[in-house]
Amino acid sequence: MLRNYLGFIDFSSRTVAFMGTVGMGLPRRVLIASANPLFGKGLQKIFQERWGTQAVVVGLTGSMGETLQAMETLQPDLVIVDYDDRSMNRAEFLSHFVAGDRPMQVMLVSLRGGGSAVVYDRHTLTPSEAEDWLNVPKTIQPAPEPDDWLNVPKTTHTAPQPREIPRRSSMKHFVRLAVMVIVSTILVYLGLERSKILPDAASAQAIPIDGLFKLHYAAIAFLFSLITMFMLYSILVFRRKPGETGEGAHIRGNNRVEMVWTALPVLAVLVVSTIGARNLAEVIRPAQNEMVVNVTAGQWFWSYEYPETGVVSDSLYLPVNKPILLRMTSQDVIHSFWVPEFRVKQDVLPGENLVKELRITPILIGNFKNRCAELCGGAHAYMESPVVVTSQEDFDAWMQNQVQAVMDDPVARGNAISRQNGCAACHSIDGKAGVGPTWKGLYGEQQTLADGSTVTADDAYLHESIVDPQVKVVEGYAANVMPSVYKDSLTEEQIADIIEFIKSVK
Ligand code: CUA
Repeated sequence: MLRNYLGFIDFSSRTVAFMGTVGMGLPRRVLIASANPLFGKGLQKIFQERWGTQAVVVGLTGSMGETLQAMETLQPDLVIVDYDDRSMNRAEFLSHFVAGDRPMQVMLVSLRGGGSAVVYDRHTLTPSEAEDWLNVPKTIQPAPEPDDWLNVPKTTHTAPQPREIPRRSSMKHFVRLAVMVIVSTILVYLGLERSKILPDAASAQAIPIDGLFKLHYAAIAFLFSLITMFMLYSILVFRRKPGETGEGAHIRGNNRVEMVWTALPVLAVLVVSTIGARNLAEVIRPAQNEMVVNVTAGQWFWSYEYPETGVVSDSLYLPVNKPILLRMTSQDVIHSFWVPEFRVKQDVLPGENLVKELRITPILIGNFKNRCAELCGGAHAYMESPVVVTSQEDFDAWMQNQVQAVMDDPVARGNAISRQNGCAACHSIDGKAGVGPTWKGLYGEQQTLADGSTVTADDAYLHESIVDPQVKVVEGYAANVMPSVYKDSLTEEQIADIIEFIKSVK
């Protein structure tokens, strides 16, 4: 059977002519490359029978590397490559051919032709020709003069005929496709924008961020259109027509296309990251007249403190168009401050040295919601609080009310007074050691004094320690540290409020 296949190989015309240039009388040096030993051995036998001493098979190689090496060491005039052997990558093979400038004849032979052999190509390659052959695969076309070199009848050539697409008509396809892609891109982009994926943009920071979103919509719309339109067009226009039996052109490798589709994504990544970095800088840039709000998160609540007034609220009230600086901390686990309409989001971490900042300038009056965006335990899903953006006047009115409410509560009043007078700098309310004794759990406790005596921390003792702090100094604390100014600077009512506050710190 193999003999039938290979009977056609004949050196009658061109090869001989070519060989003539090498030197008449010398045997042709043939190298056969196939991983299939049967292919090589059969071919070798036929060469011997047919050509005797005129052709000598100088080598049978079974792999790419072996073949390339043999081409160097054995210097063949003709290389016969098994076209069906996948390990003999044709393009790779030829790229090695072009390295040298020695002309060499190559034949690609396939044995898969339903009982007949197919010679795909027969060339004497110079380096430049080999290059062409790589880039413009005029594959699977039998040589023009079969009688000249094949002994098998013409009818047994079953090389599939590719459907030729003339250059002009392929241009027409690309123009149509370009129009389809552009139209589809615009429609998909408008669809994405109209679908209101994003909620209202309620902060100045949302504007650059939404710019990035729009850029991404455009990229998504374009890539989606590019892929689907090419697919759609190919399915509709290039589908197999009735009666068509051939195969499509076999295209392998295109350096230009590969360079383009590597360069474009690199460029896109660079552009998007540049815009992203600029936007980030814009979003976190401090403003001149920022209003600070201290945010405390805990399982499962949000608490907002306005340090200028000492007001604490469980709703975040903000005046419109005012730059806000949120300083955020957590009492327990990691939470996350997220108002979708503001676009920005920040994790809130436990630990004094991990206070996180977030800047927001509300630009839209309305009611929003701060949603914890970090899984933080059982009630995470319910950890939300109202965010109210009002006009500056409404905000001031609200703040006035809050301050009044504070003023109606002696404990709250005491807290505010102690803050305003700097008590907290020395007396902690969480039990931490300080310059003075902590207020936590102080009320009603026995205190040991510097002289060894003890005293109960009751109203009278606390009052005395505020107005005349040197009389009873607690053991372990230095005398003359706490100022004696409070007798004059605080009213009796204020001192009573501070004592109420100390009582409340348990
Ligand atoms: Cu806090 Cu989730």
